[in-house]
Amino acid sequence: MKFFVDTADIDDIKDLASTGLLDGVTTNPSLIAKSGKEFIPLIEEICDIVSGPVSAEVAATDYETMRKEAEVLRKIADNIAVKVPLTPAGLKVCKELSDGGTMVNVTLCFSAAQALLAAKAGATFISPFVGRLDDISQTGLDLIAEIVTIYSQYPNFHTEVLVASVRNPLHITESAKMGADVATCPPNVIRALYNHPLTDKGLAAFVEDWKKTGQSIL
Ligand code: E4P
Repeated sequence: MKFFVDTADIDDIKDLASTGLLDGVTTNPSLIAKSGKEFIPLIEEICDIVSGPVSAEVAATDYETMRKEAEVLRKIADNIAVKVPLTPAGLKVCKELSDGGTMVNVTLCFSAAQALLAAKAGATFISPFVGRLDDISQTGLDLIAEIVTIYSQYPNFHTEVLVASVRNPLHITESAKMGADVATCPPNVIRALYNHPLTDKGLAAFVEDWKKTGQSIL
Protein backbone atom coordinates (compact mmCIF):
# COMPACT_ATOMS: atom_id res chain seq x y z
CA MET A 1 0.00 0.00 0.00
CA LYS A 2 1.28 3.47 -0.89
CA PHE A 3 1.16 6.28 1.67
CA PHE A 4 0.38 9.83 0.59
CA VAL A 5 0.25 12.69 3.08
CA ASP A 6 -2.85 14.89 2.96
CA THR A 7 -1.41 18.32 3.75
CA ALA A 8 0.05 21.49 2.26
CA ASP A 9 2.38 22.03 5.22
CA ILE A 10 5.95 22.08 3.89
CA ASP A 11 7.58 21.20 7.23
CA ASP A 12 5.37 18.11 7.61
CA ILE A 13 6.01 17.06 4.01
CA LYS A 14 9.79 17.43 4.41
CA ASP A 15 9.75 15.55 7.71
CA LEU A 16 7.68 12.64 6.37
CA ALA A 17 9.61 12.52 3.07
CA SER A 18 12.82 12.09 5.09
CA THR A 19 11.49 8.76 6.45
CA GLY A 20 11.71 7.27 2.96
CA LEU A 21 8.18 5.91 3.40
CA LEU A 22 6.22 8.68 1.71
CA ASP A 23 4.91 7.97 -1.80
CA GLY A 24 3.04 11.17 -2.61
CA VAL A 25 1.06 14.19 -1.45
CA THR A 26 -2.56 15.27 -1.77
CA THR A 27 -3.81 18.82 -1.30
CA ASN A 28 -7.22 20.43 -1.59
CA PRO A 29 -8.50 24.05 -1.51
CA SER A 30 -9.13 23.85 2.26
CA LEU A 31 -5.56 22.70 2.94
CA ILE A 32 -4.18 25.46 0.67
CA ALA A 33 -6.25 28.05 2.55
CA LYS A 34 -4.95 26.67 5.86
CA SER A 35 -1.33 27.03 4.65
CA GLY A 36 -1.87 30.74 3.97
CA LYS A 37 0.53 30.45 0.99
CA GLU A 38 0.31 31.21 -2.73
CA PHE A 39 -1.09 28.10 -4.49
CA ILE A 40 1.13 27.59 -7.56
CA PRO A 41 4.54 28.31 -5.91
CA LEU A 42 3.51 26.09 -3.01
CA ILE A 43 2.68 23.18 -5.31
CA GLU A 44 5.98 23.75 -7.15
CA GLU A 45 7.82 23.52 -3.83
CA ILE A 46 6.01 20.30 -2.89
CA CYS A 47 6.82 18.75 -6.29
CA ASP A 48 10.51 19.49 -5.67
CA ILE A 49 10.43 17.66 -2.33
CA VAL A 50 8.44 14.57 -3.34
CA SER A 51 9.02 12.63 -6.55
CA GLY A 52 5.72 10.71 -6.35
CA PRO A 53 2.30 12.04 -7.37
CA VAL A 54 1.31 15.45 -5.98
CA SER A 55 -2.41 16.21 -6.26
CA ALA A 56 -3.34 19.82 -7.07
CA GLU A 57 -7.05 20.56 -7.26
CA VAL A 58 -8.89 22.76 -9.75
CA ALA A 59 -10.98 25.53 -8.20
CA ALA A 60 -13.64 26.01 -10.87
CA THR A 61 -16.80 23.92 -11.13
CA ASP A 62 -17.68 24.61 -14.80
CA TYR A 63 -16.09 22.59 -17.59
CA GLU A 64 -14.44 25.42 -19.58
CA THR A 65 -12.71 27.07 -16.63
CA MET A 66 -11.80 23.74 -15.06
CA ARG A 67 -10.12 22.65 -18.31
CA LYS A 68 -8.07 25.87 -18.42
CA GLU A 69 -7.06 25.53 -14.77
CA ALA A 70 -6.11 21.89 -15.34
CA GLU A 71 -3.88 23.00 -18.20
CA VAL A 72 -2.01 25.37 -15.85
CA LEU A 73 -1.72 22.77 -13.08
CA ARG A 74 -0.50 19.89 -15.25
CA LYS A 75 2.41 22.00 -16.50
CA ILE A 76 3.76 22.63 -12.97
CA ALA A 77 5.74 19.37 -12.88
CA ASP A 78 5.80 15.85 -14.31
CA ASN A 79 4.55 14.39 -11.01
CA ILE A 80 1.36 16.48 -10.83
CA ALA A 81 -1.94 14.65 -10.54
CA VAL A 82 -4.69 17.11 -11.43
CA LYS A 83 -7.49 16.74 -8.92
CA VAL A 84 -11.04 17.18 -10.20
CA PRO A 85 -14.38 16.80 -8.43
CA LEU A 86 -16.68 13.89 -9.19
CA THR A 87 -19.12 15.86 -11.34
CA PRO A 88 -20.02 15.57 -15.03
CA ALA A 89 -17.66 18.49 -15.79
CA GLY A 90 -14.91 17.00 -13.62
CA LEU A 91 -15.11 13.60 -15.30
CA LYS A 92 -15.12 15.19 -18.75
CA VAL A 93 -11.88 16.98 -17.88
CA CYS A 94 -10.58 13.73 -16.34
CA LYS A 95 -11.14 11.82 -19.59
CA GLU A 96 -9.36 14.44 -21.67
CA LEU A 97 -6.40 14.70 -19.31
CA SER A 98 -5.96 10.97 -18.90
CA ASP A 99 -6.22 10.44 -22.68
CA GLY A 100 -3.38 12.96 -22.97
CA GLY A 101 -1.22 11.13 -20.40
CA THR A 102 -1.76 13.38 -17.36
CA MET A 103 -2.42 11.78 -13.97
CA VAL A 104 -5.87 12.60 -12.58
CA ASN A 105 -7.20 12.20 -9.04
CA VAL A 106 -11.02 12.23 -8.91
CA THR A 107 -12.08 13.55 -5.54
CA LEU A 108 -15.23 13.74 -3.41
CA CYS A 109 -16.33 10.16 -4.17
CA PHE A 110 -19.07 8.87 -1.88
CA SER A 111 -20.58 5.94 -3.83
CA ALA A 112 -19.56 2.87 -5.81
CA ALA A 113 -21.52 4.18 -8.81
CA GLN A 114 -19.39 7.34 -8.81
CA ALA A 115 -16.23 5.23 -8.60
CA LEU A 116 -17.36 3.23 -11.65
CA LEU A 117 -17.78 6.43 -13.65
CA ALA A 118 -14.32 7.66 -12.61
CA ALA A 119 -12.69 4.42 -13.76
CA LYS A 120 -14.47 4.67 -17.11
CA ALA A 121 -13.18 8.26 -17.39
CA GLY A 122 -9.63 6.91 -17.01
CA ALA A 123 -8.89 8.34 -13.55
CA THR A 124 -5.46 7.48 -12.19
CA PHE A 125 -6.86 7.66 -8.65
CA ILE A 126 -10.36 7.58 -7.19
CA SER A 127 -10.64 9.21 -3.77
CA PRO A 128 -13.47 7.78 -1.64
CA PHE A 129 -13.84 9.82 1.60
CA VAL A 130 -14.18 7.32 4.45
CA GLY A 131 -14.10 9.75 7.39
CA ARG A 132 -16.82 12.01 6.03
CA LEU A 133 -19.09 8.96 5.50
CA ASP A 134 -18.40 7.84 9.08
CA ASP A 135 -19.35 11.39 10.15
CA ILE A 136 -22.87 10.88 8.77
CA SER A 137 -23.18 7.40 10.34
CA GLN A 138 -22.43 5.43 7.17
CA THR A 139 -19.51 3.00 7.37
CA GLY A 140 -16.88 4.57 5.12
CA LEU A 141 -14.83 1.37 4.91
CA ASP A 142 -17.80 -0.46 3.34
CA LEU A 143 -17.41 1.83 0.33
CA ILE A 144 -13.73 0.87 0.00
CA ALA A 145 -14.70 -2.82 -0.01
CA GLU A 146 -17.35 -2.20 -2.68
CA ILE A 147 -15.01 -0.27 -4.97
CA VAL A 148 -12.14 -2.76 -4.61
CA THR A 149 -14.56 -5.60 -5.44
CA ILE A 150 -16.01 -3.83 -8.47
CA TYR A 151 -12.65 -2.75 -9.90
CA SER A 152 -11.26 -6.27 -9.51
CA GLN A 153 -13.96 -7.58 -11.90
CA TYR A 154 -12.59 -5.46 -14.75
CA PRO A 155 -8.90 -5.96 -15.63
CA ASN A 156 -9.13 -3.07 -18.13
CA PHE A 157 -9.72 -0.61 -15.25
CA HIS A 158 -6.41 0.84 -14.12
CA THR A 159 -7.75 3.31 -11.55
CA GLU A 160 -6.09 3.06 -8.12
CA VAL A 161 -8.25 3.19 -5.00
CA LEU A 162 -6.92 6.09 -2.90
CA VAL A 163 -8.52 6.00 0.54
CA ALA A 164 -9.17 9.62 1.56
CA SER A 165 -10.55 11.48 4.56
CA VAL A 166 -8.60 9.08 6.76
CA ARG A 167 -9.01 9.77 10.46
CA ASN A 168 -7.21 6.91 12.25
CA PRO A 169 -4.82 3.96 11.74
CA LEU A 170 -7.76 1.52 11.58
CA HIS A 171 -8.97 3.18 8.39
CA ILE A 172 -5.54 2.40 6.92
CA THR A 173 -5.09 -1.18 8.10
CA GLU A 174 -8.66 -2.21 7.25
CA SER A 175 -8.32 -0.66 3.76
CA ALA A 176 -4.98 -2.45 3.32
CA LYS A 177 -6.68 -5.78 4.13
CA MET A 178 -9.16 -5.06 1.34
CA GLY A 179 -6.34 -4.34 -1.11
CA ALA A 180 -6.78 -0.58 -1.50
CA ASP A 181 -3.82 0.83 -3.41
CA VAL A 182 -3.15 4.08 -1.54
CA ALA A 183 -4.11 5.84 1.68
CA THR A 184 -3.80 9.61 1.96
CA CYS A 185 -3.56 10.58 5.60
CA PRO A 186 -3.07 13.66 7.74
CA PRO A 187 0.51 13.80 9.12
CA ASN A 188 -0.58 12.88 12.67
CA VAL A 189 -2.28 9.68 11.44
CA ILE A 190 0.86 8.59 9.58
CA ARG A 191 2.94 9.24 12.70
CA ALA A 192 0.43 7.31 14.83
CA LEU A 193 1.15 4.18 12.76
CA TYR A 194 4.52 3.86 14.52
CA ASN A 195 3.03 3.77 18.00
CA HIS A 196 2.55 0.80 20.31
CA PRO A 197 2.94 0.92 24.11
CA LEU A 198 4.72 -2.44 24.13
CA THR A 199 7.31 -1.07 21.70
CA ASP A 200 8.01 1.84 24.08
CA LYS A 201 8.11 -0.43 27.12
CA GLY A 202 10.30 -3.03 25.43
CA LEU A 203 12.74 -0.42 24.13
CA ALA A 204 13.08 1.21 27.56
CA ALA A 205 13.97 -2.20 29.06
CA PHE A 206 16.53 -2.94 26.32
CA VAL A 207 18.16 0.47 26.82
CA GLU A 208 18.45 -0.11 30.58
CA ASP A 209 19.81 -3.66 30.20
CA TRP A 210 22.34 -2.53 27.59
CA LYS A 211 23.69 0.08 30.02
CA LYS A 212 24.32 -2.77 32.53
CA THR A 213 26.65 -4.48 30.04
CA GLY A 214 28.96 -1.43 30.09
CA GLN A 215 29.64 -2.04 26.38
CA SER A 216 29.54 0.21 23.32
CA ILE A 217 28.97 -0.83 19.71
CA LEU A 218 30.91 2.14 18.29
C1 E4P B 1 -8.48 13.92 -0.19
O1 E4P B 1 -7.73 14.02 -1.12
C2 E4P B 1 -8.89 15.02 0.68
O2 E4P B 1 -7.93 16.03 0.59
C3 E4P B 1 -8.99 14.66 2.13
O3 E4P B 1 -8.64 13.33 2.38
C4 E4P B 1 -10.20 15.16 2.81
O4 E4P B 1 -10.18 14.79 4.14
P1 E4P B 1 -11.07 15.47 5.28
O5 E4P B 1 -12.41 14.84 5.26
O6 E4P B 1 -10.34 15.15 6.55
O7 E4P B 1 -11.12 16.94 4.98
